[in-house]
Amino acid sequence: MTRVRRRVGAALAVTALLAVSACSGGSGSTAQKGNAKDVEVFTWWAAGGEKAGLDGMISVFKKDCSQYSFVNAAVAGGGGDKAKTLLSDNLAAGNAPSSFQAHAGGELGDYIASGQVEDITSMFKDAGLDKAFPKDLIDQVTVAGKIYSVPADIHRANVVWVNPTVLKKARLDPKKAPATVKDWIGDLEKLKASGVAFPLVMSKGFAEVMLLESTLLGDLGVEKFNGLFDGSTKWDGADVRAALTDFKTLLSFANTDRETMDWDAAMSKYLMPADPTKATAGYQLMGDWVPAQLLSLKVPDSAYTYWPAPGTDGVYQWLSDSFTLPKGGTNAEGAKCWLKVVGSAEGQKAFNMVKGSIPARSDATPAGYPAYQQSAMAQWKTAKLAPSLAHGSAGPGAWNNDAQTAMSAFTANPDVTTLQRTLVAAAAKYSGWRKTLG
Ligand code: GAL
Repeated sequence: MTRVRRRVGAALAVTALLAVSACSGGSGSTAQKGNAKDVEVFTWWAAGGEKAGLDGMISVFKKDCSQYSFVNAAVAGGGGDKAKTLLSDNLAAGNAPSSFQAHAGGELGDYIASGQVEDITSMFKDAGLDKAFPKDLIDQVTVAGKIYSVPADIHRANVVWVNPTVLKKARLDPKKAPATVKDWIGDLEKLKASGVAFPLVMSKGFAEVMLLESTLLGDLGVEKFNGLFDGSTKWDGADVRAALTDFKTLLSFANTDRETMDWDAAMSKYLMPADPTKATAGYQLMGDWVPAQLLSLKVPDSAYTYWPAPGTDGVYQWLSDSFTLPKGGTNAEGAKCWLKVVGSAEGQKAFNMVKGSIPARSDATPAGYPAYQQSAMAQWKTAKLAPSLAHGSAGPGAWNNDAQTAMSAFTANPDVTTLQRTLVAAAAKYSGWRKTLG
């Protein structure tokens, strides 16, 4: 874990001086209702594989914290788009839940900077969690020596999920990842020529930022990509422009209704429909909550393949869901019991086995995990690391919001010059965020 520590920590630590995200969150119901035993936990894990993961953790909570009642305040919406807006409103109104989900890194920094979460250092140490996680992951939830959340998992963002049956139409090998973004574009062209109208599945919001990020990562390489988030790589360079042009080309192969649906609906409509013979797309770039979703839909492992986004082999674009103790939240003692479950070996196993992610704890072993997580655990040990803007590890939520707004504008007017200008302006506002590390 020394290597993990060095890799994660050097690149990304939480700053206490970030501007408050316009998109922080809050629970829908809270302090004034329920009873004193309620522990209200706010997430965006409302359905499918995400709910299955949360349910796994809840089962351990019911056993270890039986003096309390779990109240599930999940709000549906991939990447937490609706949840974070609602959470923000509720926190501002003094209506905090007992605990809420926040990504380690810049997104958690938003809540810390705005004074909305408690320092949990003593609870963290009393539960032995300071020895349970890679030090550099702990750095992502620490500001000025104080710890603010408990990591539940590590997810990987830069993965492409593949429908082998569709790829066969163009005689493409579903197990062979295109080496570069340009090679992938070549394969998309072949699929299109074989009669597949929209070979690439896309969905709204965070999924568009994910495709943008993975194209930048694939074209620029990991060092330059990481530099985009600390100011050492310029967003106005010719290399970024070339990547944005590739991004535009990739989008030209995507379903045109992408702005109307979330990632899971798009997956079920185009890539993995209930009737497998009705699949109409070959690829979807999405984080590794996908195998959990497919498991929940009873799609067999043999029905799909996956590989790192083209040009990103050997790089783990990571994100980590973590849980907080909000200031003024209901039932702080019950919330601490929940946080201990989140950080425990048993809680992490019950959660990650069915969530597609891997445990954040250093002592987890692959035995018993599905094949996908076993391969992810192996790669996590050796891969180079890159953070994700779409999922809060690379920067503050407001930067992600600006990127998502740029994505919608690009759908309406796919002009690379305008897109680059917008991204340059966003970076000018936020890329200094790491310099004020606590
Ligand atoms: C991410 C989150 C994942 C998964 C995903 C899709 O932001 O970290 O756990 O929930 O959104 O909703």
